[in-house]
This record gives sequence, structure tokens and C-alpha cells, in this order.
Amino acid sequence: MQVDMSVNLLGLKLKNPVMPASGCFGFGKEYSKYYDLNKLGAIVVKATTQKARLGNPTPRVAEVTCGMLNSIGLANPGLDKVLSDELPWLKSYSLPVIVNVAGETVEEYCSVVDRISRSKLAHAIELNVSCPNVAQGGLSFGADSKVLSELLKRVRGVCSLPLIVKLSPNVTDIVEIGLAAQEAGADAISLINTLIGMKIDINTGRPVLARKVGGLSGPAIKPVAIRMVYQLADVLKLPIIGIGGIYTAEDVIEFIMAGASAVQIGTANFTNPMAMPDIIDDLERYMKEKGIKDLDQIRGCAL
Ligand code: SIN
Repeated sequence: MQVDMSVNLLGLKLKNPVMPASGCFGFGKEYSKYYDLNKLGAIVVKATTQKARLGNPTPRVAEVTCGMLNSIGLANPGLDKVLSDELPWLKSYSLPVIVNVAGETVEEYCSVVDRISRSKLAHAIELNVSCPNVAQGGLSFGADSKVLSELLKRVRGVCSLPLIVKLSPNVTDIVEIGLAAQEAGADAISLINTLIGMKIDINTGRPVLARKVGGLSGPAIKPVAIRMVYQLADVLKLPIIGIGGIYTAEDVIEFIMAGASAVQIGTANFTNPMAMPDIIDDLERYMKEKGIKDLDQIRGCAL
């Protein structure tokens, strides 16, 4: 039986629903040594800011039960270098390139989105309003529906590409935030970013991360992610990209059944660099075995 894993996301043709989560794949170069990136549905690159950022002091990652904590702090080479050295290389691949954009101010978000939109080096923007690891920007734009609306209206004015908004689980009411994003002009939603967590070294009695707290990712957060995708799929008209603890083809199926159009894979890439191609192969096998001809057949069936 032939199965069709393709997804039409905001007019972009994805061979399959699998793409990396921003920050877990750099700009793809390291992973291209392991497999042909054309195997993926799309590529999502590390958050890009106006100026280069070194990120937070170390230690800034820690392993925890069923996942990891990170407090990277949006380390990236800055917009000029991303445009000159990182994105042009990805042009040799025939798949959509999604650039994650972060900022400390509305002006910074707008200026980065504007230049990336006009560069012809990206197919969509993913706006990061959910990073929990920075003192300014990040989550502070995504935790309040009014602040988020103001940002999105301004960004919409300079963004000629499809605009995906990456939301945080660290909010009281994800539905209120999702509806605000839809109203203010988002074309799609991706969620969830990490949950704020902490680990203490019981030998020193001190927090393990230099910044004390960080974002929890990995299998531990999958049920939270499934719940939030489900809640938003129930009320929004926008496509949703599900993220959170995906390690297997069955996890992908669960997100699609919750209403996701596509998925992003993050922490799994750190334990197995072949995680995404393996999951794509397994997904095809799973669909054949279960007689699922295409993903529309099961998308949102749990709703
Ligand atoms: C980081 O760079 O701190 C992680 C990115 C994010 O959580 O959005």
C-alpha cells in the first residue's frame, strides 16, 4: 500500500510532517554529515537576533529524569552572519526553511523579520515569543495576550512570509493566548516551547544551571504538549505544529490525532542524531501497517 505523508503547510509543500525544533539542529550543517537533509519535511533554524549573542553562562544544560533542562540564552551568530553564512548554504536543499526569530524589543523583532522576509533565503518565519531563558524579550512577549497582540500587529506589517508564532506552556490560559495570536495575524501556531524547571545538586546544595532555572524538554513534557495542541486545535482555525517530547512515529501520530498539521522534534536529536530520519521511516511503516493512506485521515480525530 502506498502512503502519502505529505503536508501542505501555509502553501509550503512538506514531504512529511517532521522538522527539527529550533535550537536543536543549529543551522543543519552538523546533521548533514549524518544524513541527507532532504529527507526532512522542513528545516527550522536556531533563533536569530539582530546582534550576535554568546548566550548565558555555563553550565547551561542539565540532564533530568525523562528529559533535559537548557538555559542557552538564544546564543546565535546574529542576523548579518545568518544571512551571509548560514542560510545561503541551505538553498541547495529542496525543502522549506523556517527561520526562528527572537528579540528584546518590538523594534528588534520587526527589523530581523523584515530583513529575513526580504532576503529570499527563508520560506517562513517562526516568531519566538516563548524563550524562558532571557531577561528581556522571549517569554515576556508571549505570556500576556495584549503584549503579544501588539507585537504581532507590528511584525505582521513587515512580514511578507507566512508567520508561525511559537507559544509557551508557561501561561495560565493557552486558549486566550492562541486566540490573541490568531486575531493579531498569525498564520500558524507552534507549541509547546519548554516548561520552566530547575535542578539542585544535592552535594553542593546549589542549582545546577548557572542561571538557576531553565527550560524542561523531552518525554516528560509530551502529555502537556498534547493537551495544549488539542485545546488549540479545538478553537483555532490556524494550522498547528506540535512540539514536545517526540521520540517515535507513534508520538507523531498522537500529535496529529490531537489536531497538529506537522511536528517538530527537539531533544531526541541530542540522544540520536538519526532520530528524525528514523522517525520518518517508522511513520511510513506505521501508516502502511495500520492502513492510514494519508495524515488527513487521522488528523484531529481525537477532537
Ligand atoms: C534558548 O536559547 O535559551 C532556548 C530557546 C528557546 O527556549 O526558545
